[in-house]
Amino acid sequence: MGLAEVLATHRVVVTVGSGGVGKTTTAAALALHAASQGRKVLCLTIDPARRLANSLGLDEMTVDEQRVPAELFERHGLRADGELYAMMLDTKRTFDALVAQYASSPEVRDRILGNRIYSYVAGSLAGTQEYMAMEKLHAVRQNPRWDLIVLDTPPTSNALDFLDAPERLVDAIDSPAIRWFLQAFEGAGKMSFSLVGKGAAFLLRSLGKFTGTGFLEQVAEFVTGINDLFGGFRDRAAEVSGALRSPEVAFVVVTSPAPLAIQEALFFSERLREAGMRRDAVVLNGVHALLPEPQGTTAELEAELRRVEPGLDAARAIDRMRRALEDERLRGVADRIEADVLRSKVGADAVFVQVPALEEDVHDLRALARVAGFLVA
Ligand SMILES: Nc1ncnc2c1ncn2[C@@H]1O[C@H](COP(=O)(O)OP(=O)(O)OP(=O)(O)O)[C@@H](O)[C@H]1O
Ligand SMILES: [Mg+2]
Repeated sequence: MGLAEVLATHRVVVTVGSGGVGKTTTAAALALHAASQGRKVLCLTIDPARRLANSLGLDEMTVDEQRVPAELFERHGLRADGELYAMMLDTKRTFDALVAQYASSPEVRDRILGNRIYSYVAGSLAGTQEYMAMEKLHAVRQNPRWDLIVLDTPPTSNALDFLDAPERLVDAIDSPAIRWFLQAFEGAGKMSFSLVGKGAAFLLRSLGKFTGTGFLEQVAEFVTGINDLFGGFRDRAAEVSGALRSPEVAFVVVTSPAPLAIQEALFFSERLREAGMRRDAVVLNGVHALLPEPQGTTAELEAELRRVEPGLDAARAIDRMRRALEDERLRGVADRIEADVLRSKVGADAVFVQVPALEEDVHDLRALARVAGFLVA
């Protein structure tokens, strides 16, 4: 089995891995491939990178879905039997939609959405971005319009944040500090700083940006509002978390050949397994090729270089080229060793594919199709 089968047999594919290893590129390339095979594909990314937009032939990523024009496929000599759409996640907007869905009344909804502390939390609470990615995925998945959804996950410093994002968000909202606040406020009716007391000083400090008049009222309003949402949130988080374990969801772990990235990928695979999620494929991206030694002696090479570039100091240039080649060959050997070790550790229970380091960054549909070619080979 290869990645083509993984794509063909799942409805949701999630690329995960540590920072900068090629998650976004892999997600886009897989989406492109599936679209060229006749499927209606949504590529969901959290990366506003213009590079990705450009490689899909779009001016920029937007939070509304955009179709990659069919004529662009043709221009690059690619089949366009299906349809490819791209959409960027908007954490705050997704959170707002959740609030709207779970608030007990329009008044409560408006009170939360208009609350300054809510805005802060929705934009920057640890884990919110990861959770909202999962949340959005869950929402679009219920839309029968898509044959395949490819989710590109955010560049988390800790790639594991993803797995327990729903639980962590609930924990953060259900933290002792928040519960303490609630009790203090509910008991006091009207609150004052003295009532809040020293116990919550750390929370106030972390929210210190909001000092000034009305701060405590904002806190009270937020905490009461969140409490109103809480039951709904908790059920929803459990639902989202469960959905990630569905057999229609495949995880593709992406890594570079750097030993640290590989270590993280292996650790991440293990965690996926423990969490009851599937690790269907491991992609080793950016592998340096074993370049052959140049033909001919140094004297011959210098003579040839002098012929084509008479202005150049041929002896020096050839010496430098040899050293660059030597470095590249060393990387090629190191990458091959890493690849072998990784392949044996992945074993037979997941697809293992390698994508070579291309000469240039991936910046258009053609390059993306090239990456896809290696992925589904
Ligand atoms: N096989 C490859 N050959 C050459 N360049 C590549 C390859 N794969 C990815 N790149 C380039 O490497 C850079 C990082 O790739 P990408 O954005 O896909 O990584 P990422 O894992 O999504 O990063 P982040 O964690 O920041 O989101 C991009 O400029 C991309 O074009
Ligand atoms: Mg990315």
